[in-house]
Amino acid sequence: MKAAADAILRPEQAAYLEALEPPRDALLVKMEARAAERGYPVSDPEVASFLAVTAQARRPRFIVELGTNIGYGAIVLARAAGPAARVLSFELSHEICETAREFIAEAGLEDRITVLQGAALQELEKVEGLIDLAYIDCVKEEYPRYLELLVPRLAPDGVIVADNVLWGGHVARSSVPDTQRAPTEALRAFNLALVQHPSLRAVILPLGDGVAYAVKQG
Ligand SMILES: C[S@@+](CC[C@H](N)C(=O)[O-])C[C@H]1O[C@@H](n2cnc3c(N)ncnc32)[C@H](O)[C@@H]1O
Repeated sequence: MKAAADAILRPEQAAYLEALEPPRDALLVKMEARAAERGYPVSDPEVASFLAVTAQARRPRFIVELGTNIGYGAIVLARAAGPAARVLSFELSHEICETAREFIAEAGLEDRITVLQGAALQELEKVEGLIDLAYIDCVKEEYPRYLELLVPRLAPDGVIVADNVLWGGHVARSSVPDTQRAPTEALRAFNLALVQHPSLRAVILPLGDGVAYAVKQG
């Protein structure tokens, strides 16, 4: 359950929804425990469930993830998208890349998930081929630029999922602490650009810390 101050649901609502969940996958539980122990910012389990449902419904063949961390989202996406899917995921930290690769090997997905060490913006510019599903979960200040780079690289009916777009509620507040101003302003710009983009149909869901979901039109 999301106990952080940025939880959107009231605790009793979150506990109720969590009690409905089927038994958890052992590897994901292990990864969540590692993340909790080391303070790794993996996706919330409810966001992972949303990624899995989306990937299984859409069957994307080429998935790009911005921000791998320990490979939690990449594993969820690769599993749910099926055996024809491959995932390319970018992570800045060499050490975290190594941990992600270990978990990906444990999941038996090393042939379908590539973790590339580097800065997401620079690596995204080099991506070749149309992207069927992009998961944005990286530097908040860079979200508007990720969107600019992703839309032309997205296949028709391709999907963008972006995490943390409500940023603990800061995006909706008139007064924002100085430390949160830059990410908040970037996320406000991203949300507006996404929802009003002429090539996208988009919705922002109050799930986890806010999840944006968009599909490319035409
Ligand atoms: C929120 S975590 C990603 C969580 C992951 N998507 C998941 O589903 O569990 C964001 C990650 O982005 C990485 N990161 C930070 N700056 C980056 C950059 N410029 N390029 C690529 N990765 C970056 C961080 O090290 C961190 O591991």
